[in-house]
Amino acid sequence: MSRGLLEKHRPFLPISPKTPMITLGEGDTPLVPSSKLARELGCPNLYFKLESCNPTGSFKDRGMVVAVAKALEAGSRGIICASTGNTSASAAAYGARVGVPATVLVPQGDVAFGKLAQAQAHGARILALNGSFDQALTLVRSITQTHPLTLVNSINPHRLEGQKTAAFEIVDDLGEAPDLLCIPVGNAGNIASYWRGFQEYRRAGRAKTLPKMMGFQAEGAAPIVLGRPVPHPTTLASALRIGNPATWDGAVSARDESGGLIDTVTDDEILEAYRLMASGEGVFCEPASAASVAGLLKLHRKGLDLQDLTVVCVITGSGLKDPELALRFVQSEVTEIAAEAKEVEAALLAPMAQGRRAP
Ligand code: F0G
Repeated sequence: MSRGLLEKHRPFLPISPKTPMITLGEGDTPLVPSSKLARELGCPNLYFKLESCNPTGSFKDRGMVVAVAKALEAGSRGIICASTGNTSASAAAYGARVGVPATVLVPQGDVAFGKLAQAQAHGARILALNGSFDQALTLVRSITQTHPLTLVNSINPHRLEGQKTAAFEIVDDLGEAPDLLCIPVGNAGNIASYWRGFQEYRRAGRAKTLPKMMGFQAEGAAPIVLGRPVPHPTTLASALRIGNPATWDGAVSARDESGGLIDTVTDDEILEAYRLMASGEGVFCEPASAASVAGLLKLHRKGLDLQDLTVVCVITGSGLKDPELALRFVQSEVTEIAAEAKEVEAALLAPMAQGRRAP
C-alpha cells in the first residue's frame, strides 16, 4: 500500500498534528537508467526521474498534495490556480479527492487536450482565458487577495515544499547527489524546489555533495536566459509557454549557487529529444519534459565530457497528455488490413522485405 508523500517525507515537510494525511499515491517515482542515450552520449551514469509516473501524470502532484492538505487544515472553501495544464489537472484531482471545489484558469486554446480532459473529468470549474498564462497568474493572484480561496500555484510555499521531495528520492536511489540535474524551466518553481531539496538533504547528512542545476527553457519562452520578461512566449512545448516566471529569483539562485546554468533549447531540439526518448528509451514524455534531455544533448554537442558524470534528467510529465502532438510530429505508419491471417503475414513481411523497420 502506498504510504504517500506526506507520510514518507514527513520530517522534511510542514506537517502539524492537524494536517490531514491525504494521498493519491504520489511520489516514489522510478529513477530509470538510460539505455540508448547513455551509449550515444558516452554517459554511462545517465538516469531519468520519471515524474510522469505520478497519479495525474506529472510532478505537480508532489506539491499539490501538500498545498491541498494545508488548505484543508486551514479550512479552505476552495482552491484556484492558473495553469498551462498540468497544475490544473493536479489541482482538479486533489480537489476531487478531498471534496474541495477547484477552479482553474487556463489560456484558451493553449492547453494540451489530455490535461484539459483531466481537469474536466475531475469536475473542476474551468475558465478558459482569452489571454496568456502570465495574465491568468496575475488574475488568480489578485482574486485570492479578496476571495476566500487558496491559491495552489507554486507561489504557494507548500507547493515547493512538496516538490523538493523528488530530490530526496534521487539521493536515496543513487546513494549520493548526481553531478548534474537537467530540468525544464517554465514558471521556475521546480528547479528552485529541487535545489532546496538537495541542500536540505545535505544539511541533514544524507548527501555529501550538491548537483549543478542545469535548467532549460524553450527558445521562444526564455525570459530567464534573456534576463527580461517575454510578452508573447512561443514554443510547441505548451507547458513552458511562460514569459514571466513566478519563481524567477529562486531559479537564478539555484543556477548561481550550484554553479549550473539556465540555457535555451529550440523546438527542433525538443522534438528530437522527444522522439529519441519515445523510440530509443521507451519513455513517452511530453515535449516540455523532453527539454531536459534536449539540454543534455546540447551540452554534449558543445563538447562536455559526460563519461565520469552522474546525470539525472527530470521527466516532468507524460506523453499521454498530448497525443495530438505525438501524431503530428512522430513518423509512424498505421496499415489498414482485412481481418485475415494472410493479410497480417503479408503486412509483417512487407517492411522486412524492403529492409524497413517500424519507427
Ligand atoms: N514540465 C511540465 C510537464 C510542466 O507542466 C511544467 C510547468 C514544467 C515542466 C515547468 O515547471 O513551472 O516549475 O518551471 N507547468 C505549469 C502548469 C506551469 O501550469 O502546469 P516549472
